[in-house]
Parts: sequence; C-alpha cells; structure tokens
Amino acid sequence: MTDSTLHTRVLRASPEQPEAAVIAEAAATIRAGKLVAFPTETVYGLGANALDAAAVNRIFAAKGRPAFDPIIVHLADAAQLPTVAVEIPPLARDLAAAFWPGALTLVLKKHARIPAAISAGLETVGLRVPAHPVALALLRAADLPIGAPSANLFSRPSPTTAAHVLADLEGRVELILDGGETTIGMESTILNLTGDQPVVLRPGGVPLEALRQFIPEITFTPQYAAADVPAAAPGTLLKHYSPRAEVRLYSGDDEAVVRRLKSDAAGLLSQGKAVGILLPSTELRPFLESESPYTVLSLGKSLDEIAGNLFARLRDMDRMGVHVILTRLIDGEGLALAIRDRLIRAAEGRIIAV
Ligand code: TXA
Ligand code: MG
Repeated sequence: MTDSTLHTRVLRASPEQPEAAVIAEAAATIRAGKLVAFPTETVYGLGANALDAAAVNRIFAAKGRPAFDPIIVHLADAAQLPTVAVEIPPLARDLAAAFWPGALTLVLKKHARIPAAISAGLETVGLRVPAHPVALALLRAADLPIGAPSANLFSRPSPTTAAHVLADLEGRVELILDGGETTIGMESTILNLTGDQPVVLRPGGVPLEALRQFIPEITFTPQYAAADVPAAAPGTLLKHYSPRAEVRLYSGDDEAVVRRLKSDAAGLLSQGKAVGILLPSTELRPFLESESPYTVLSLGKSLDEIAGNLFARLRDMDRMGVHVILTRLIDGEGLALAIRDRLIRAAEGRIIAV
C-alpha cells in the first residue's frame, strides 16, 4: 500500500518556540488525512487524524504494523478527555491532572467517534497529552486528536531523532518535523484503567514510584508474548525495539559479568563476528584498550542518560555493521524498570545469568 513515489519533507521546528508557519503546514497535512512524524518528550510519533479511519490505516501501512496492535491517541489538553473516552473514572482525572502533559498513557473506554482501527477493535483507547512544545502546538493547530505510534518501522527501536525517523520511514510519510533529540528517550508508561484494578501494561517515562502517590499498590508484572501473534494484552510482543544485530543480555554481579562478556566477545570475534559492547560509561574501562577489536559504545552514566541513549545506540550498532551486541541488565528503580523492559525485548527475552 506504500506509495513508492511519496516525497518525505523534513522541516525544522524549534523545540522551544515552534515556528507558526511550520506548525500550520503540519496541521494542514494532518487535516488532509496525511502522515506527519513529530517529536514528543518520549520518542518521535507517527501522527494522523485519529478520527479518520483511512488516515489511521495509513499509519499501519507506513510502519508495517500488524492491525492487532492499537495506537495511542494524543490530545492537546486533558479537558478533551470526554470527547474521546466514556465512563471516565475519577482516578483517570486525578492522574491526568497530576501527570499531563507527560509520559503517561491512560487506557480508558473508547468513545464511539474513535474509529475501530485505532484500537485494533478493542473497546478501549490509550490516551495521553504529550509534554513537548512541537507536539502540543501541532495538536492545537490541527484541532483534532492525533493517533501516533512510535515513528519507527514495526519492531525496530523507537526513534529519538528525526534522522532515525527518516532512516525508517523515508518515502512512507509526507512530513517529518525535526525538533531535535527527544528528552526522555523511552516511551510513555501505559496504565489500563478499564479493569477492576489499574494495571501497568508498559513501564515508561513516568516511574511507578510517582504513580504510587495515587495507586499505592501498583507494580509491573512483565507478560511477554513469545511469538508475533495477537497477544492476550496488546503491546506485549516480545520481539520489539530490536536492532538487526543479535542482542545478548547479561545479568549478575558486575565483575563476573565483565569477565564473561570479555570471554564471550573474544569467542565471537574468533568466529568472525563483528562484536559490539554496549555498557554504562562507568563499566567500559575493561574494553577501552587502544585498538580494541570491538565496537564499544557508552550508554552514559545516570539512568536518565541511559534511557535517553539506549535506542540511538542500538541503531548506531546496526549502522556500524555489528553482528552481536553484548550488553547487561541495568539495576535500580525509577526509569531502570523501563530500561530493563526494552533491553529484555531487544534480546527477545533471553537473559544470560552469570
Ligand atoms: O511515548 C509514547 O507512548 C509514544 C509517543 C509517540 O506518544 N508512542 C508509542 O506508541 O510508544 P506505540 O504504538 O509504539 O506503543 C504504544 C503501545 C502499543 O504497544 C499498544 O499495544 C499499546 O500502547 N496500546 C495502545 N492502545 C492500547 C489499548 N487501547 N489497550 C492496550 N494497549 C494499548
Ligand atoms: Mg512503538
């Protein structure tokens, strides 16, 4: 369904004060039923008019996304909730007041005006108000709810720069707004509020510790579906966020992991594989000898940095021709939960316990 003659335009949009003319053009593109990729504070989104089923179907086609994976609807303001959801519980209003604009997606009962394609036929819809001046300006100017999954090809790492979007979607989308690097670099936390108890479907930019103000007992129970088939819960597909390279994910005591990484890296090298080492900056020293036979990339130091860098470094490894990426689980709370989730998915669920 992709139009191979489609020309993708890239327009720079200031992340502080988006240019009115650029936003007006992007809004007109959305209103015309076309696709616009835009920055949010989490990752870049691939947007279309959420009320236009044909436009929504173009998102699925452009991404190569299976029709059973529902799409998040973005709003300019929490006051628009009643226009897209019904039976809104008080907890949803409290969470929206506390965390929007921000990296929290609330799954609520869907309003009839939202087309079935957005929600993959479910009775629910995922909603959030993004905290990015470009995204908010676009939502206000378009004056429509905008459906937007991450702007990557299906199962590739989410894009945190316009260059990542272009690499995946050139010729598949009309317009990309380049607002620079996204700030968080991990997708939103998804919370389902349609059951008896609130359930975290995906850990993300808003840490569980922050949600506990409102839902003291909230935890995340990973449920990864092994194959590319419709999952019990949408969005739990295991193969996700994957670079082309194989990811080997190690866990265990720091020194033991380094020792094992070193010996496995040497073994892979002797089999003729291009090996990438991807670790927090504080753990790279043993691999930083001059003339290292490995591609060594740093994830950064703090959890904020690691979250911001992870997807970009996975893409870098692919660009640099790496066959096997050796990395490790990241300990800690807060954003570490989302980072671990993405690492486990990138490694297709395999953890090598040392
Ligand atoms: O930060 C984000 O959430 C970014 C930016 C662009 O907003 N969006 C994003 O969208 O990550 P996407 O489509 O890549 O991931 C959204 C996830 C999917 O795994 C989907 O299954 C789940 O949200 N989801 C969406 N609507 C849902 C619903 N009604 N019920 C359950 N899960 C839903
Ligand atoms: Mg995605």
